[in-house]
Amino acid sequence: MTRQHIVFLTGAGISAESGLSTFRGKDGLWTKEEFQYFASADCLYYEPEKCLDFYNMRRKKLSEVEPNVAHRLIAELEKEQEVTVITQNVDDLHERAGSTKVIHLHGEMTKVCSSNNRYDPKYIREYPLTTPIKVGDDAGDGSQLRPFIVMFGEYVFGMEVAEEIVKYADIFVVVGTSLMVYPANNLILHAHKEVPKFVIDPGEMPKCDALGYTHFKTTATEGMKQLLEAFKEL
Ligand code: APR
Repeated sequence: MTRQHIVFLTGAGISAESGLSTFRGKDGLWTKEEFQYFASADCLYYEPEKCLDFYNMRRKKLSEVEPNVAHRLIAELEKEQEVTVITQNVDDLHERAGSTKVIHLHGEMTKVCSSNNRYDPKYIREYPLTTPIKVGDDAGDGSQLRPFIVMFGEYVFGMEVAEEIVKYADIFVVVGTSLMVYPANNLILHAHKEVPKFVIDPGEMPKCDALGYTHFKTTATEGMKQLLEAFKEL
């Protein structure tokens, strides 16, 4: 295959085989009602301890897991292809696997920010995953230190850039997302109708099927191997 710009849209399913739970599947994080509340801007504002404890638990879990074969195969593609990963995931497993162009639509669990303005770059910084963020910790501008994560009820920044990248992709691949969450789910509409489009997911993907995506109905690690075989025919 000649050098192409391959764009991936990934979700929680690509990190499932690393041991991080998905949100809506069996045993998904959101199946426990209260967890959706803990991940909301309201909880951070009105009951910050509950929100911070929830993220301290998720951050500690992230420090205990590793990228899986699917993350690594995407990273290895960079040796011959231009690769951009647009992810809804807040874990850093794509980066740890070696991917160098990763756009996090929903933030990054390895970073913290200001509660006054979460996108103020002066206060966005790496923070040890095993150090709990506590009520009263100062972000540097006198506001409460918080995870650099888009909470429920908060604005997703950077969609315009993501849409442009998908629009000019030579190949577009969706991996491990239920496509239930706006605006990220709309990205599948921006891929040019003529380019090869693939989806890797063990579940049903009617939205992708309707748009003519080739569906590898399997796990991310198995599906990535099948995708690489399919690339040989392009
Ligand atoms: N390999 C590939 N896909 C998998 C695997 C696996 N091993 N296991 C599960 N999946 C698929 C499921 O079939 C499902 O389609 O991964 C998808 C997970 O969907 P969700 O749990 O809804 O996760 P996601 O789509 O990433 O959620 C989007 O919702 O709550 C917000 O911010 C949160 O970023 C998240 C967003």
